[in-house]
Amino acid sequence: MSYEYLLTETRGEMPLRCGWITLNRPKALNALNDRLMDELGHAMKAFDADESIGCIVITGSEKAFAAGADITVMSKLSYMEVYKKDYITRNWETIRSIRKPVIAAVAGFALGGGCELVMMCDLVIAAESAKFGQPEIKLGIIPGAGGTQRLPRAVGKAKAMDMVLTARMMDVHEAERAGLVSRVVAPERLLAEAQAAADAICSQSLPSLLAAKECVNRAYESPLAEGVLFERRMFHSMFATDDQKEGMDAFINKRKPTFKHC
Ligand code: CAA
Repeated sequence: MSYEYLLTETRGEMPLRCGWITLNRPKALNALNDRLMDELGHAMKAFDADESIGCIVITGSEKAFAAGADITVMSKLSYMEVYKKDYITRNWETIRSIRKPVIAAVAGFALGGGCELVMMCDLVIAAESAKFGQPEIKLGIIPGAGGTQRLPRAVGKAKAMDMVLTARMMDVHEAERAGLVSRVVAPERLLAEAQAAADAICSQSLPSLLAAKECVNRAYESPLAEGVLFERRMFHSMFATDDQKEGMDAFINKRKPTFKHC
């Protein structure tokens, strides 16, 4: 598939490298239309299936990570069209099936679907210029890509209600305090910091990364006792890997581990 609205590349050292995806629809501040979301799902699935990739970074431009779903397109859609085509679910939900860690490197606006895309990622590294919001209420709609569900889980009910009902934006420092953002960096450091985080992830054992991501996501979606049980079973299964023996032997012998990802 050739991409109209994405730039993709791989960075870092073998054996595990990082797949980079840059949203590239600058004239519309990376507004998310069907074509862009199809491309994003395709690119993410390709990196997820590639055994040489340990981590995926999604970024946008200096001005906008993404300013939301494409309002020009949505303005013409009817109920029957969105319902029958399963608008949002059909292609946006692909992101939820990605098993490798995904980092959002955010500068500028992350609004509406852009903020919801950020919340579907695993780590969020944000430049001081980043602004987050769910302004859909101003358009006579509500968030439709998980905003009313993931935002309260990320920042709590009171702040989520504030953002969803008043449409106000959060600056990056408030977003970090509230738990929406993992790290805040100067704008010129954004890509280097994302790459450093990706390198740190790619230096680990791939089976551990997949298991760890799956377990943390369980925390989001199940009661505590179920989540802890799931974690315990996954933890036990790590003892079947060569990398568990290698990681622990390396610690005991004061050397760097050489993981074989099995
Ligand atoms: N859809 C389509 N086009 C968009 C867009 C969007 N979400 N956001 C920005 N654009 C376009 C603008 O129409 C404009 O195009 P033209 O140059 O052709 O006029 C271009 O991008 C630049 O935007 P602005 O001139 O508005 O730039 P600004 O710096 O003055 O303002 C902004 C920036 C505050 C982000 C403003 O563009 C804005 O408010 N955008 C809409 C944000 C929004 O409401 N997002 C939610 C969308 S609904 C949604 O996402 C539903 C869901 O949950 C899935």
